[in-house]
Amino acid sequence: MSRLASLYQSSLGKKFIVAVTGIVMIGFLVGHVAGNLKIFLPPVDGGPGIGMQPDIDYYAHYLRVIGEPLLPATAFLWVARIVLLVSIILHVICVMQLSTHNTSARKTAYAARKYSRATPPARWMMYTGSALLLFVVVHLLHLTFGAFGGGFEHGKVYHNLYDAFNNVLWVAFYVGSIGIIALHLYHGVWSLFQTLGFDNPDRNRNLRRLAAVLSVGLFVGFVAVPTAFITGIAKAPDHMESSEVAAHQQVGNDVENEEKE
Ligand code: HEM
Repeated sequence: MSRLASLYQSSLGKKFIVAVTGIVMIGFLVGHVAGNLKIFLPPVDGGPGIGMQPDIDYYAHYLRVIGEPLLPATAFLWVARIVLLVSIILHVICVMQLSTHNTSARKTAYAARKYSRATPPARWMMYTGSALLLFVVVHLLHLTFGAFGGGFEHGKVYHNLYDAFNNVLWVAFYVGSIGIIALHLYHGVWSLFQTLGFDNPDRNRNLRRLAAVLSVGLFVGFVAVPTAFITGIAKAPDHMESSEVAAHQQVGNDVENEEKE
């Protein structure tokens, strides 16, 4: 058996895979929240035929063309998506295998569960993890595929966010889900420190603090977007621009229309 296969077979190997795939997903979330916060930046010039556009739309377009012309359009994005998808699948499979292994290793069920040492976020990992998966499915249908209709337009990220978060139900869904995800992250980050062997009685307090700072930071960053739209801090797409910007956009649209004709 190759070393990689025997690593995968062992509990320690599976824990290692859970930790590493967790790091990949946290990396994605840090990048995602940074991208989302671009709704707070002023519009930028999208170039000929586009004119001024919200910074986040410019960024979303940039993500699709990274590496061009060396790489084909969206190649980088697809590699990142595949890495993320493989990470999610491996993470879930290994967690489930570890959990069944732990249950079957314990021949008799506990007469009464003792939770004295496990914190609530640790006990809820399976529930918060399942909720996270469900959130990702709804979220992709909502803001990537526009499956719930409304005024969704592909590529117009700012407009789509404005449209979504003027509805208090979507705001509640996102804020609630992000809260649950933050709990998952808090315990996940702390666990991965342990799996990777960073834990040590002298350091544990600070490692727990780091896990808390990361999960609270991500929570605040993500929640800032729906909150900004529902409270009117983030303006309507056509009001975020000055009249000069709107004029630029009109010229851009005219050029586009002429090209179509
Ligand atoms: C309030 C919080 C969030 C907002 C406003 C938000 C917004 C968005 C938007 C607008 C897109 C589509 C971007 C585009 O079409 O270019 C997107 C994609 C995505 N989001 Fe989020 N997101 C949030 C939280 C999350 C969280 C917590 C996760 C993961 C747990 C997540 C995972 C994803 C994934 C996997 C994609 C697809 C990326 C791709 O394949 O292009 N998002 N998000």
